[in-house]
Amino acid sequence: MYSVQATVGNSVSSSFELRRLFNLDKRKHASRRIACGIFASGESREIMETEASVFVRTYARAPVVLKSGKGSKLYDVEGREYLDMTAGIAVNSLGHGNPDWVRAVVEQASTLAHVSNMYYSIPQVKLAKRLVECTFADRVFFSNSGTEANEAAIKFSRKYQRFSKPDVKEPATEFISFSNSFHGRTMGAVALTSKEHYRLPFEPVMPGVTFLPYGEIETAKQAIRPGKTAAVFVEPIQGEGGIHSATKEFLEALRSACDDAGALLVFDEVQCGLGRTGYLWAHEVYGVFPDIMTLAKPLAGGLPIGVVLTTEKVASAVSFGDHGSTFAGGPLVCHAALSVLDTIQKPGFLASVSKKGQYLKELLVQKLGGNPHVKVVRGLGLIVGIELDVSASPLVDACRESGLLILTAGKGNVVRLVPPLIITEQELEQAVEILSKCLPVLDGSASNV
Ligand SMILES: Cc1ncc(COP(=O)(O)O)c(C=O)c1O
Repeated sequence: MYSVQATVGNSVSSSFELRRLFNLDKRKHASRRIACGIFASGESREIMETEASVFVRTYARAPVVLKSGKGSKLYDVEGREYLDMTAGIAVNSLGHGNPDWVRAVVEQASTLAHVSNMYYSIPQVKLAKRLVECTFADRVFFSNSGTEANEAAIKFSRKYQRFSKPDVKEPATEFISFSNSFHGRTMGAVALTSKEHYRLPFEPVMPGVTFLPYGEIETAKQAIRPGKTAAVFVEPIQGEGGIHSATKEFLEALRSACDDAGALLVFDEVQCGLGRTGYLWAHEVYGVFPDIMTLAKPLAGGLPIGVVLTTEKVASAVSFGDHGSTFAGGPLVCHAALSVLDTIQKPGFLASVSKKGQYLKELLVQKLGGNPHVKVVRGLGLIVGIELDVSASPLVDACRESGLLILTAGKGNVVRLVPPLIITEQELEQAVEILSKCLPVLDGSASNV
């Protein structure tokens, strides 16, 4: 397996070589299963065929085989250039191949890549201390992804309820989540994820979750109940759900309802945290603080990491052996994360994100606002949504053909723009120019959302 990956990574394989390596000729139905790669040629086509023949079909991929990246640009195996307004779904905040990040990764990989959590390691402790210093939190727990961070937050919430009320026979075990939420795909996190499509095929998922309308204060106040609600999970700005921002009043109401009921308030900042809004943490915008915050995507600049940040009150309920992970918080990812924080915490960096985000929204309103399919442009910093009255898919395809990578969100009718935070104003202008040029592709679409 290793040698196969190395060969593809070098991308020097001839068609014959790939066929031999992947035993392609025996995989009769490969090309039939390729969703949209029928126009692909050469090496791209080979890779897509192989993918179709060996993967469990969980990803409906765009027909592009990406090979390298620099800054906000990506390049496919045919050498085509793409402006990346996706950043690996809000992951590559420093863009691709950031020299400081690369240096940090190489340096740490050649020193010590992995040790078990049975031992101490310097980058892990340094990163934990750094995160504690720049958040509301007293303590951290590392995981490997966003869903795992939320899974840990679920367990810590349950443990806290049990630990903090030792005399209560049936401590609070239930959770509250909201419409359009996305918290991950493991059995606990998916139970908190609103879209039925992600949950129903796998039921029974974790029981005891109530979904409430995002933003409805009175409903939330009534639903957060003492002795029942262990925790409330909420994204201060929803990414996957369609770039919806909470109001200050909503988050304040959740905070006080949780305090009254003895429930924990969990902010999922996996997508909106760490500088994306122009603030280090999205909740700073509101001045409302959680008991637990989960982070992941951008923290290690493209390497897998997740974090639960929490207060002493919650952490004191968690004991040795309650939770753990083999890989989590290894020296390599933690050293990489320290280099990401070094850049994001440089003076002026967050201000530049705010400025560029504002500029992007202004440009979008100016150039796209008059189009009848464009309903609204919203977001904060460099997490921006363009809501359409039709599916965004034809636009995504047309933009890609024109060298621009964008995402969808919501019910597929929202264009989601989450570029690298280091993107330039000129690149934003280029992105909006391509979006505007491609918009007419929607003209044939019937309004179906
Ligand atoms: C808000 C939020 N939480 C959790 C997750 C899950 O993260 P991961 O895909 O790393 O498991 C995501 C992923 O998109 C997310 O946007």
